[in-house]
Order: sequence, then C-alpha cells, then structure tokens
Amino acid sequence: MVEGHGGQEGSVVKPITEVGAAVVGTGFIGAVHVEALRRLGVQVHGVVGSTRERAVARSRELGLPPAYESFQAMLDDRRVEVVHVTSPNHLHHEQAKAALEAGKHVVCEKPLAMNSQQSAELLRLAESSGRVHAVNFNIRFYPVLQHLRGLIEQNGLGTVRLVSGHYLQDWLLLDTDWNWRLEPELGGDLRAVADIGSHWMDLTAFLTGRRITSVMADLTTFIKTRRQPAGPVETFAAGRSVDTVAREIHTEDAATILLRYEDGARGALTISQVSPGRKNSLVFEIDGAESAAGWNSERPDELWIGHRGRPNEAILRDPAILNAKGRQASYLPGGHAEGFADTFKALYAAVYRAVAAGEPGDGYPTFAAGHDGMLVCEAVARSAREGQWVEVARGAAVRAGAG
Ligand SMILES: NC(=O)c1ccc[n+]([C@@H]2O[C@H](COP(=O)([O-])OP(=O)(O)OC[C@H]3O[C@@H](n4cnc5c(N)ncnc54)[C@H](O)[C@@H]3O)[C@@H](O)[C@H]2O)c1
Repeated sequence: MVEGHGGQEGSVVKPITEVGAAVVGTGFIGAVHVEALRRLGVQVHGVVGSTRERAVARSRELGLPPAYESFQAMLDDRRVEVVHVTSPNHLHHEQAKAALEAGKHVVCEKPLAMNSQQSAELLRLAESSGRVHAVNFNIRFYPVLQHLRGLIEQNGLGTVRLVSGHYLQDWLLLDTDWNWRLEPELGGDLRAVADIGSHWMDLTAFLTGRRITSVMADLTTFIKTRRQPAGPVETFAAGRSVDTVAREIHTEDAATILLRYEDGARGALTISQVSPGRKNSLVFEIDGAESAAGWNSERPDELWIGHRGRPNEAILRDPAILNAKGRQASYLPGGHAEGFADTFKALYAAVYRAVAAGEPGDGYPTFAAGHDGMLVCEAVARSAREGQWVEVARGAAVRAGAG
C-alpha cells in the first residue's frame, strides 16, 4: 500500500519510499519539484542541468546526491523510474519523448510542448507505453479548489453559466526584465497565454468539467523592444545586468480572451505579465444558476461562495469541513496556511499512487490535458491573427483534456 494519502485497495503497490525519481532542470520550478518529492518520501536520485557545473552547484544547495553527468546518464540509471521535466518549454518534447522511450514514467511541466503536433505525438507515445504520464497543472491541487470541483460535480452551483477572471503578474513590466520565455524559439510563439493563461484555462475547464470549445482573442505586445542582459537570467531572479543588448519582442505581454465552454457556459479572461503590483494573481469567478464561487491565488486557503437570498459564505480551508476531494489534497489543520508548494505534493501524491501501482491511474492531469491545452492555445493564437472566433480543433481521436 502506498504510504501517505489515499491508496488503491486491491492493487499491488510498493511503498512510495522505494520509488526513484530524477528532475531535469534546476531553475525556479525544478527545486519545487525536488522538495515536494522529498516531502512525499520519493527517492530523488539526482538532477540534470543545462551544464554539469550548474547542476552540481544546485545539487549541493538542495542537499541532493551528485548531479548526473548528462541527460543520457540519468536515463541510464535504472533506479530512476520517474523523470520530471522542468526545463524550458522547447526541451519538453524531446526530453519527455526520450524518457518514455527509455521506459520511464514522466511528469512534464506545462506547456507540454511547443505545438500540438508535438503534444499529440507525446500523448500517443505515453498512452501506448503503459507508463504513468502527468502534466504539471498543479493549481488544480489547492485543497479548496479540489473541494470546489467536488461541489460543482454534485451540481452545487446549479448549471454553470459564466466564468470570468484574470491571471496577472508584474515580473516582465520593465524593458530591462528578461527571461528565456521572451524568445519564441525557447518559449514558444505564445508567451503570457501559454505560460500563465494555460493554467487559468486548464483550471476552469477542470473545475467546471467543461472544455473550452472556441475563443476570441486579442494579444498585445506593449514593450516592443527589451534590453537583454549579456549573461543568463533565472526566472523571478531580482538582480539586474548593466550590460544589455536591444531585442525586438514579438510575443504578447497581455491578452484579453472571450471563451465558450461546452454546454453553453461563457467566459472572459485577462492575462498579463506587465500589471504593476500583481505578483502572481490568478482570480476566477464561476457563476452558476443558483450559486457562485470565487478564488484568488494570493489568498489560496479561502473560497468564496455567493448566494442570492441568503448570506454568502467564506470558506477557510479546514479538512474538517471540506468534502472528500478537498480533504485528500489537504495536509494541515485549518488555520495553518497551505500554499503553492503544497499543491505539488498533493499532485504528486496522486501521480505516485499510480507509479507505485505500476500503471496509469486517475485523479491527476495527464498528457491528454497537456495536449488539450496546446489545442486551446493554438486556437487563441489563430483567433488573434485572424481577428475572429476560432473553434478549438479537436480531432475525433483526441480524448477529453479535462480529466
Ligand atoms: N507549474 C507551475 O506553476 C510552473 C511555474 C514555473 C515554471 N513552470 C514551467 O517550468 C519550466 C521551467 O520554468 P522555470 O521558471 O523553472 O525556468 P528557469 O529558467 O528558472 O529554469 C529552467 C532550468 O532549466 C535548465 N536547463 C536549460 N537547458 C537545459 C537542458 N538542456 N537540460 C536540463 N536543464 C536545462 C536551466 O539551466 C534552468 O535551471 C517551464 O516550462 C515553465 O513553463 C511551471
């Protein structure tokens, strides 16, 4: 039986503490993956970085065994059953594919790939491999959001009608702010939409149980020339370089998108990486025919439920009052704040239940959700180019992405 939360009765599983993993990418989010895995008791055998020197330094900081010589050396390590891909976007396809072909289970960061051809190939490969595959849509795993998913599944808001909100950040506000995400060959042709909008769109599809079917998008690049530092920059790093080169920018700083969901629900979303004061503000409201729900990622333990004709509710996360889904993702008693890093632990608890059982399970976003996200992003890009509504191009062979 898997130790920790849940466990699948009847299946042959080994203790999670005997499962081995490795993390590719040693930046902002690679470290969050490592820490969450270790909190679950997974054996993290090492990391792979862009260079051996960088990976060695990061391994020391994280208290890990010596870093791997190379990506291939990590694949050759038979103790590594699960590979976490947390490198820049342009490497996801090649690294996830190689890991699956080496017989590993794969957890890949979003966006799953650079385009839907790549993500479709990864989905096909993952499904035929029999390995566990997950895409890191961690925001689904805030306990009050798992609770809300359970509530909406039970028709607790009535028919979902309207989904509105934003995802705003300010870390690319200045023309001196620089990151690999600004370079289309490393980050992709979409920037703010693929980087953070993808989370909002995945989350609202997950919560409502309705996929996005068509979009009308307007993308804007306010800062058309940026000053790229001569040296490398880590995501959210605070230091500034004096030595810079002028670079033309073609990816969007901000987007406004109208959305249509399955079953007639409508949505409106604002995305920006240039909104002063907004560090990482994902906000949504979901209006149903009877009640509404609202959430703000900067106050992640709180869920607002709105009613007409009786007082509204402000739920503070507390396992004692959450439903089964919410309790499953919750680790601490009420009043002891949980946050961003805890969502990784809750997501991996679900993923590693499947890994420990040796086969794909449920309760976590798979490559199907990652591929579906790519299709939605491509519809957004096309809509902005053409100035009209665009349907999300799901072929008959593509499975639902909200699961
Ligand atoms: N789920 C989330 O909440 C979340 C948050 C942040 C980032 N992300 C995703 O994680 C990925 C990484 O983002 P980040 O913010 O950590 O970026 P980052 O720049 O901080 O880190 C990227 C790391 O990848 C390393 N790298 C570069 N080339 C490599 C190679 N060939 N092999 C191995 N490692 C290599 C870099 O040295 C760096 O350490 C992106 O795909 C991003 O979209 C997800």
